[in-house]
Amino acid sequence: MKSHLGALSRQLSTVRAGQRARAGWICQSCQSLQLPQSLRSIKASRKLFTSSAALRELKDKPYYVTSPIFYVNASPHVGHLYSMVIADVLKRWQVLKGKEAILSTGTDEHGMKVQRAAELQDIQPKALCDTNSETFKDLANKANISYDHFIRTTDPDHREAVEYFWSRLRESGYIYETKHEGWYCVSDETYYPESMIEKRVSPITGKPFTACAETGSAVEWTEEKNYHFRLTAFREKLLQFYSDNPSWVTPQNRFSEVISWVQNNLEDLSISRPVSRLDWGIPVPDDPSQTIYVWVDALINYITVAGYPVWPPGSEHAKGWPVDIHVVGKDIVRFHAIYWPALLMALDLPLPKRILSHGHWMMSRQKMSKSVGNVVNPFFALDRFGVDTMRYFLIYNGAMSSDADYSNEFIVDKYKKGLQGGLGNLLNRITRSKNWNIRDAVVSMHGKQSELVSTSVKMQKEYLESIVKEVSNRMDELNPKRALQAIMEFVFEINRFLQDAAPWDRSKAGDTAAVEQIIFFAAESVRVAGILLQPFIPEKSGQLLDRLGVSLDRRTLEHARLYADDGYGTPTVPLGEGAQSSLFPPLPVED
Ligand code: ME8
Ligand code: MG
Repeated sequence: MKSHLGALSRQLSTVRAGQRARAGWICQSCQSLQLPQSLRSIKASRKLFTSSAALRELKDKPYYVTSPIFYVNASPHVGHLYSMVIADVLKRWQVLKGKEAILSTGTDEHGMKVQRAAELQDIQPKALCDTNSETFKDLANKANISYDHFIRTTDPDHREAVEYFWSRLRESGYIYETKHEGWYCVSDETYYPESMIEKRVSPITGKPFTACAETGSAVEWTEEKNYHFRLTAFREKLLQFYSDNPSWVTPQNRFSEVISWVQNNLEDLSISRPVSRLDWGIPVPDDPSQTIYVWVDALINYITVAGYPVWPPGSEHAKGWPVDIHVVGKDIVRFHAIYWPALLMALDLPLPKRILSHGHWMMSRQKMSKSVGNVVNPFFALDRFGVDTMRYFLIYNGAMSSDADYSNEFIVDKYKKGLQGGLGNLLNRITRSKNWNIRDAVVSMHGKQSELVSTSVKMQKEYLESIVKEVSNRMDELNPKRALQAIMEFVFEINRFLQDAAPWDRSKAGDTAAVEQIIFFAAESVRVAGILLQPFIPEKSGQLLDRLGVSLDRRTLEHARLYADDGYGTPTVPLGEGAQSSLFPPLPVED
């Protein structure tokens, strides 16, 4: 343990110097810790979080969003891409609001699942991790995920954070050693209670096997000595916390499942495995015969990224802790909503603020999964349809409270109806006419309270004045799907407005004032829609705003208001001619 904590101790020296100068910050109980002196002073006591400086920090801290970190037993699929995109949209929304925001993603590299995958391929686990982790990172880059951290659980700083966390947990008195027997599922990296186990027959081999009834994954009986975390000691505290934070887990139906699990199924948690069974992991400090359970190791990634435990007094929150949103699939809610807060409570650390749990993408009525193999390669999909088309489709059709079916036809349909027929067509209509010019309309209409020429203009103006609030509300509810759908309904409505207001007829009749008014409200609407779409389809919305001539410094939420920009209207890029130069050109011919 000492060797791994060496680097951490060095890092902490600056912190210690600061703390010596403020001895009052160090809580009394730290004196009794069995940790090296170098680490004692860093203990994040409750005092650190109640000081006024710390509270000020908390208020101004960066907004911190996470995706799960993914197992590297196989390559990523569309499900992983989906979680990354949701997390990215949430982060970009904050940036749009002018807030500093951090997004973290990465890979979960230890545990039986990865150890076995490496054995099967007859390669060293680290080599497997290096290759597959890189593929996940490539995916994040390719999909335009604006991550600030890509953590790997094999990173040295993470290992140090886990060892430190474990040592603190041990001192807290919530760890004990005992014999454990039960059904372990390698695929899900978890024990399941007897009540969730059933006999099944493999449809492929015809052989009987024992499985978890919920996930269908095979389980194996194990008997071993290991360390346990006294999870049951936190039952009341967890329930109290849930009732104090009624929207802590979204959607509500999953929160109810969590609460019911805590009420009815809570057991102490096995948090280590004998090294003879599992050696691909972080050894238990001071007991190398045991390896730390992969889920404890993995969950800590979120706090490693936030600099834990190198938290100088007064800047505990500087790197984002506590997390604002954990984005997770519904398969791993229990780990995030029960184990994780209990572990943090044991150390008296602030808890994540919210958890967004989304549903699953299904293929042939089964969850798309690496273990089953019914997956869509996200690289192929991104190449074929384009990054923003995929981002758009995943969010628009995506699984939130229920699951969603994945199919190429759905993607083509969404592209044609929403992007090409909705947004692209609208942009063409207002920017490519010979009968008017957006810049002229902006100059003549800006800030003018002229009488509105028709009811449809009046209604469009009202819609424009309410759309940002509507979208913000959906985002505050952590529902990017509804937010995107609301923006697109607005876009479809602008098209209907143009149809109805018929500026081409007014133009023929020589009614320039009416044409300018109609084009002005249409352009204002498209400008606002373009600004709002940036978190979802960053590249295409950027190109849309270029074509409208909106300058780069006027693309924040503050500018998503009627009359907020008087400078746009002249495209900053050539518009080109013909279908191929449209923002959303026809898709390549199907094979
Ligand atoms: O569970 N539909 O990693 P994992 C939607 N390492 N999302 C899906 C999906 C699908 N069909 N399949 C996977 C682990 N996902 C742990 C997490 S976090 C501290 C540790 C997404 O590789 C979804 O977010 O099995 C799910 O929760 C996650 O990938 C599981 O990825
Ligand atoms: Mg999984």
